[in-house]
Parts: sequence; structure tokens; C-alpha cells
Amino acid sequence: MIYRSLFSLCALTASAFAQDGGQLFTQHCSACHGTDGKGATGGAFPPLAGSAWVAGDADRAIKIVLHGLHGPINVAGKTYNLAMPPQGAVIPDDHIAAILTFVRSSWENQASAVNADLVKSIRAATSDRNTPWTAEEILKLHPLPFEKTALSSLISRVYQGPWSAIPDFAPLKPISVEEEHDGIISLSDSPFKESFAMVWEGTFEAPSAGDYTFLLDADDAATVTINNKPCLKIGGTGPMNGTRARRGTMTLPAGTHPFRVEYLQIKGNQGIALGWKAPASNSWKWLTDKTAPPREPIPIEAADGRPAIYRNFIAGSTARAIGFGFPGGFNISYSADNLATELVWTGKFMDGALHWVERGNGKEPPAGENVVNLSKSRALPAAAKFRGYKLDPTGNPTFSVQVGSQTLLDSWQANAVGLTRKLSISGSGKAMKILISDRLATKATTGHEYALGDKLLVTTDGAALETTEGKTTLNLDPAKPVTLTYRWK
Ligand code: HEC
Repeated sequence: MIYRSLFSLCALTASAFAQDGGQLFTQHCSACHGTDGKGATGGAFPPLAGSAWVAGDADRAIKIVLHGLHGPINVAGKTYNLAMPPQGAVIPDDHIAAILTFVRSSWENQASAVNADLVKSIRAATSDRNTPWTAEEILKLHPLPFEKTALSSLISRVYQGPWSAIPDFAPLKPISVEEEHDGIISLSDSPFKESFAMVWEGTFEAPSAGDYTFLLDADDAATVTINNKPCLKIGGTGPMNGTRARRGTMTLPAGTHPFRVEYLQIKGNQGIALGWKAPASNSWKWLTDKTAPPREPIPIEAADGRPAIYRNFIAGSTARAIGFGFPGGFNISYSADNLATELVWTGKFMDGALHWVERGNGKEPPAGENVVNLSKSRALPAAAKFRGYKLDPTGNPTFSVQVGSQTLLDSWQANAVGLTRKLSISGSGKAMKILISDRLATKATTGHEYALGDKLLVTTDGAALETTEGKTTLNLDPAKPVTLTYRWK
């Protein structure tokens, strides 16, 4: 009996102590950050679980709790632009310490306990602060700790020599070789300031299959090779200020890929920044300890009610792609190789700030959202030939394709909710079977509406779409033009 009550007393004391921070968290923080730390109201507020902001140096989180935070902030790859009110006046030092100790050791967070004396000294040192912090201010004082990157088994080698271009490293002997367990590419391992080169080799872990965008900037020269294929290259001498930055896209299956970076510092300043974006993601992740804010985008967009045209490589489409960005934010990429509109998307059209590296490698991804990949093979038989496009008085295109003695006319324009496509055949003769999609499951919904994949609805003005063996086609009769409308769910 005595043993039992003693035991339960101990258990009670221990749990009361451990709960302290948790209870205070519920009282002061969970309304906004969620009881599970994932951000209240379905993630409208930023998470504390898995947040780099609460990891590492505790000063950052202490100052945020004391004085609040406002303005744009990136947490775990997502951007917020909200305001957290200061809590310093209502929560005493030892409670702030208990809350942050709880936050830093809960969920998947693993950071050290916070001592009330530290909170006290920070409160005293910042007593004249009477406005909330901005992310920029507080990160200048307390940069975020680095998280492990997508590179593993990373090895760095340092070489020395008076090179003016990246040398062939095969016959050279490195001065030092190091394993980089954090997967971070950094020049801090070089003992030299000038006339040196570095090579990093490891594997890049692609979380999903699709088009990956890479961004490289360097002072002076650098190259990136993925799967033994050149991806990006900056030559010569020059600064790392975005003017020489290179961007490129590579289609990668999910899984690990051999990854190699070569760097040459000739003289003067040094630096390398290498970032990547996952398919359909809009946030950059960095493989280097330096980041290069991508150069100010130069949006290419419709103007004066006329669509914008983009004649350069578009990621997700073939080499001869023609992009049209219609007013209202509906966009297409038409492939002159496959005689098909291969991509449609909403929002921003294309970013013109970039430089393309090598044919076929450097492809610019659509700048907007809801990208739908419609097809990847030819829309018409092999004998069909692309004959160019004409613009109507408002700039909307009609692509024309010659099939024997007939010409297929394929016109696109925006409507209030999406895109209108008119298909007709000039010249009499046989009906044509036109590929609409070979990448999306097609399901007839109601009337003449079809769901293509999970994002797009296509409605016909009466014609039926047919699906066989994963290919959705339209049978176009020369006597009966067809109008299709594309809209997003
Ligand atoms: C009234 C809502 C609210 C309360 C209460 C609140 N926060 Fe916040 N918190 C926010 C918002 C909103 C942001 C993001 C501010 C921005 O967008 O600049 C934020 C950001 C943060 C951040 C940095 C970003 C991140 O997600 O890691 C930390 C750390 C933080 N809060 C900790 C706390 C702690 C600890 C408490 C409790 C003592 C607390 N907050 C209470 C709304 C709140």
C-alpha cells in the first residue's frame, strides 16, 4: 500500500512537471498554432512542429514570443504573411521557457530545453523594442539552422591550381577530401581564397517523378551534372549577383540520382549557390549554405487584351513549343512537333528573366499554377504536317496542320472561366481522329462534359470524346466543326 502510493506520487510529480509546458502551450499558443503544432485552421497559421524557426538557437523563438512577428515569412517551404501579437506582457519568463522547452521537444522537434534565465536576459536586452519583428530583422540576428539537404553521401574535394576555366579533374590529385554529412555544398572547406577548385559528388533524392528545376549562381565558374548529364553551366569570371545565374529543368523519376557539382574560384570574391524546386512546387530549396534569391522575375503576360506569345523551351512540352498566355490567366503550350496542345495552366504565364543553357536541357517551367499535362504523343498520324499559326485581330492563334489534301484548323482563345478551342477541317474528305489526351484518365460526367484527370473539365458542343487504351480522341467530321471548352475544377 505504502509502496503504491509512493509510486503514484512520484508518477504524479513527474507528469505534472512535464505537462507544465504543454498546458501553457495550450493556453497561450494552440489557438493559432494548433494543439498538434501543425498550425490552426487547417494550416492557415504557420506550424511549430517541424519548423526550423524553433530549432537551433532559442533566442529567435524567445524574441518572437516576447515581441511578436509580422510580415512575409517562410516556414517549412510555405509562405505566410500574417501577424503574431506580442506575448511578453502576459507570459512571465519561466512560463515562456517552459512553453518553448515543450515546443522544441514535441512532435518531431528535437532541440534543447530553454532556461528561464535566458528568457530573462533577452527580455532585458530587448526592453526598448516596442514593435513586432519582421522575418528579415530576426533572421539577420538569428539565421535559421540548416536542415539536411536532398543530397546524401556527399563528398567534397579541394584542388589548387592557376586555372582560368574548370579543369579536367580526372588526372588531378585533391588536396583534401571530406564527407559532408549534412549534404550542404559549402566553400568553407577550402583553405584557399583564390586559384582553387572544388568538386562535390553525391546522390540527389528526388521525392517524386517529374520536372525538377535547378538554379545555379557562382563566382566564378561552376557546373552541375545530374545522372551524368550536364544540367547547368556558368563559365568565365564574374560576380554572383543573379546576372549570370542559370536555371534549367530535368525530368527525373523518383529516387536517387548521381549528382556532381564542379566549382572554380579564379580570383576576387568567391561563392556558389544552388537551389532546386520539386515538380509543381513554388518554393526553392537549397543545396548550398548560400542562397541566391532568384533574379527578379520578368513576367511575360497578356497586355491590352492580347495574348502574350512565348517561343522558347517550355518544360513539359517538346522542343518546338509555342506558348500563348491569354488575358484572364489561361495559358497553353502547343507543340509543333506533336501537333497538340500539350500543357494548359492558369495564373502567371512565363518568366522571362532566365537564361537557357543548352538546347533541350534548359527548359523554363510555366510560371503559373494548375499545370495539366494533356498529351505526350502526336495528335495526328505521322503524315500530318505543321503549317504554322495565324493570329486573329485580337491576337488569338489558329494552328494549322495539313493532313493529305485537308487542313485541320485548331483555334484557341480564353473565355471567362477557361479556354475555348474550335476545331474544323477545310477541304472535304474523311473524318479525322484527333488526340485530346493520352496522359489523363477521362470520365464522362454529365451531358457533354468530361473530367480529364482530377483538375480539368472539358465540355463539347455535342460531339463525343472516345477513350480507348488510355487515349482520349475526338472524331472530327469535315462538315461539322466542334467547339470544346476547357475549365479547371
Ligand atoms: C493570435 C495568434 C497567435 C498566437 C496566440 C501565437 N502565435 Fe506564434 N505566430 C502567429 C502567426 C500569425 C505567425 C506568423 C507571423 C507572420 O506571418 O509573420 C506566428 C509565428 C510564430 C513563430 C515563427 C514561425 C513558426 O511557425 O515557427 C513562432 C516560433 C511562434 N509563432 C511561436 C509561438 C508561441 C510559442 C506561441 C505561444 C506562446 C505563439 N506563437 C502564439 C500567430 C500566433
